[in-house]
Amino acid sequence: MSRSDDDRSLVEAARSARSLAYAPYSGYRVGAALRVEGGEVIRAANVENASYGMTICAERAAVAVAVAAGHRRFEAIAVAADGEQPASACGACRQVLREFPPYGDLRVLLAGETGDQLVDTTLEALLPGGFGPERLGRAEQGRA
Ligand code: THU
Repeated sequence: MSRSDDDRSLVEAARSARSLAYAPYSGYRVGAALRVEGGEVIRAANVENASYGMTICAERAAVAVAVAAGHRRFEAIAVAADGEQPASACGACRQVLREFPPYGDLRVLLAGETGDQLVDTTLEALLPGGFGPERLGRAEQGRA
């Protein structure tokens, strides 16, 4: 299946972001690359903690970095994890991604650190019927 150059470079950005991971406990490095509206790509990685439950996943770190840089509208996120199998995204990260436009229409690209396997999906497919800001009358636009 052919991929756009933008998609390929987003996956490569997620793969390269794995090197930023702080994962001394699990040893499992995850990189995320979030393309925000306008095309800028924000990279982030998982940040673990000695109090394990305080760990921040790569995807949530990417959302926080993007919002703190003034971006609240996204286009796509690529996630890359160890091994050849495409990464998944945990439930907490799916929920956090659901907060910002395009909500369930966000494109999600899941890859391994190497290999050609790629899951090209949407947030709605990963979190069907997810709870979002529109339920509280707070959606900015779109499929609220
Ligand atoms: N992790 C992520 O960064 N993203 C996910 O969606 C799943 C899990 C991280 C958290 C932790 O540092 C390591 O992977 C093992 O759970």
